Amino acid sequence: MFIFAHRGVSGHFPENTLKAIQAALDCGADGIEIDVYALHGELVVIHDRELNRTTNGTGVLEDYSLTELLQLDAGSGEKIPTLWQVLHLVQNRCLLNIELKGHDTAELLVKLLHKARSELGIDWSRLLISSFHHPLLQQIKTLAPALAIGALTASIPLDYCAFAAELGAVSVNCDRAFIDEAMVKDAKKRGLKVFVYTVNNEREAKRLQQLGVDGIFCNFPQEAKSWFA
Ligand code: G3P
Ligand code: MG
Repeated sequence: MFIFAHRGVSGHFPENTLKAIQAALDCGADGIEIDVYALHGELVVIHDRELNRTTNGTGVLEDYSLTELLQLDAGSGEKIPTLWQVLHLVQNRCLLNIELKGHDTAELLVKLLHKARSELGIDWSRLLISSFHHPLLQQIKTLAPALAIGALTASIPLDYCAFAAELGAVSVNCDRAFIDEAMVKDAKKRGLKVFVYTVNNEREAKRLQQLGVDGIFCNFPQEAKSWFA
């Protein structure tokens, strides 16, 4: 079972911070998932558009200048990182799943990843770009066909994983609430991997393994690694 540290080791450290990401590297997670928004021409790593849950800010991202945003406390004195900082930290040590939230991220991402490849030596085969926003994924695939795409869904579509195949995705990333045998079978038939979020429970993780699921997103990746050791 492939274990993604969901928002880093978010079960023990402030989510989507460098500390949580470093912890994921330290515990040997197979992959790290982070959430990314575009703000004033920069890609920043945070899950919510509203700032109050994970930072000491109020209102929404766009209310802040980039400088103001990066000064907020994102938990235990940690700051909101930029995607560049995360790429710099992770290097190619595990798979990095960049989940795109919000609009206007595609062109910015592709530009940044070209720069990261030449300046930081980032290996694109160690990246997985995902989103619930499927036109955005289509745009990524057009701009940079070499990038691997994970198509997120919180539902079971009528034609199952057809949308992911159509996008040229390598994986379908499904909500644990809906994933079932038919969805997994359809994914396999189409040559897609199945990754399920967010699974923090051993029994559920084992049940998903029986179902043929390839990986899980977990807030406690070290514990998850031990379930399958
Ligand atoms: O990418 C998997 C999962 O993170 C998707 O949902 O809301 O946690 O970003 P969310
Ligand atoms: Mg996410």
